[in-house]
Amino acid sequence: MAEKRGTVGGPVLTEWFGKAKLHTLDVYESLGGYSALRKVVTEMTAAQVIDEVKMSGLRGRGGADFPTATKWSFVPKDHPGPKYIVVNADESEPGSAKDRYLLENSPHMLIEGAAIATFAIGGHQAWIYIRGEYDLPYEMLRDAIAEAHTKGYLGDHPFGSDYPLDVRLYRGHGAYICGEETALLESLEGKRAQPRSRPPFPAVKGAWGLPTAVNNVETLATVPWIMRHGGPEYAKRGTEKAKGTRIVTVSGDVQKPGNYEIEIGVTYRHIIEELAGGARPGHKIKVFWPGGSSAKVLPGSMLDTSTDLDGLKALGTMGGSGGIIVMDDSHCVVKAAARLLRFYAHESCGKCTPCRVGSNWAVRTYERILANEGSETELGLLERVADGLQNGRCLCGLGDAAGWVIESTMRHFRGEYEEHCLRHTCSVGAVLAHA
Ligand SMILES: Cc1cc2nc3c(=O)[nH]c(=O)nc-3n(C[C@H](O)[C@H](O)[C@H](O)COP(=O)(O)O)c2cc1C
Repeated sequence: MAEKRGTVGGPVLTEWFGKAKLHTLDVYESLGGYSALRKVVTEMTAAQVIDEVKMSGLRGRGGADFPTATKWSFVPKDHPGPKYIVVNADESEPGSAKDRYLLENSPHMLIEGAAIATFAIGGHQAWIYIRGEYDLPYEMLRDAIAEAHTKGYLGDHPFGSDYPLDVRLYRGHGAYICGEETALLESLEGKRAQPRSRPPFPAVKGAWGLPTAVNNVETLATVPWIMRHGGPEYAKRGTEKAKGTRIVTVSGDVQKPGNYEIEIGVTYRHIIEELAGGARPGHKIKVFWPGGSSAKVLPGSMLDTSTDLDGLKALGTMGGSGGIIVMDDSHCVVKAAARLLRFYAHESCGKCTPCRVGSNWAVRTYERILANEGSETELGLLERVADGLQNGRCLCGLGDAAGWVIESTMRHFRGEYEEHCLRHTCSVGAVLAHA
């Protein structure tokens, strides 16, 4: 597995965090903010911007790790009408709170990144789809966009150029599925948030049927730094193939939960034990979700796993949204999985049958297990339901995520499942009433 090649520099995203009033345009600009957008619109071509981001090796931080420059290059250059950047600020993944952290500290960083991305795809309009519950980030973005307009950094002639650029805000509708990019586009269009069949992909037919690149907040917030320092400088950080830094949100049974910017390639032990203070005294880490609740779990014995994105893929899991959920030995894994399945069943949009039916079958099976009514039958049933939810059988990744919870907890904690189903006991005393 690729190891971190050594820290070559300080933080990227949180470089200016802690400066008073960073959320205001004046302070952001006094530190170097908006110099990248100025350079892009007055001196560069779209192709040059894409090349710079390509050299950085930046991959999407929304969950799928897709190379950002490649996504932008899929947007047709010769399309005659509008094309859009849509910022995914829905942040609905359980365990993830890094986009909120970025927005509450430095809203202009996202606005600058979204404007640069819009220029790179040859568009003029970016939409920020922000999670409905994010009141403070919404207000901060709204005020920051107004400041950028007043200063002439957005609008018809940003920085005196003849390249109109605008960023607009749209409040989301409060469901996990709104974060899935095609359901998000439906929601942005004012429809019920349900995923679309692909192809066509959003790059060709996205918002209102027009070419669209959907990018996560953190992905775009990284772009101004890359344009200021150059792609190769960013690429010095991270591992051979997974470049740069990212923000991880550590939650659960650790002493110092929070957001931490890490260089990709450090181990989970470094993050959980050194940055987040490790387990509570007298407890051991039993299990962790390495990339949000949708990433397959790893047992506490695998804390030395690297955050390298490809290494995680090789293990069958992923860095996902960077949300690291930690559970210590005082918790029952079966009960935790049951609870997550209830979440996925509740959030299933119902459009495709494998997800709608499968997630609810799983919930009912877990309920029987936790009511001490489990047997060999329930073990087999969970395995079959998990299989039916995965491997592209559902319209979007929500179904896969539900299946991964079942499959990975059963793989690493088979003993706990057997304890519940075959001996009707639980080493940590979980009962349905508290599930
Ligand atoms: C059920 C579901 C929920 C998702 N929620 C989010 C989210 O809240 N934020 C996000 O950026 N991506 C989310 N994604 C991933 C997006 O579909 C998409 O891959 C991402 O926004 C692309 O941005 P990136 O290329 O910058 O990573 C979700 C995916 C699924 C299947």
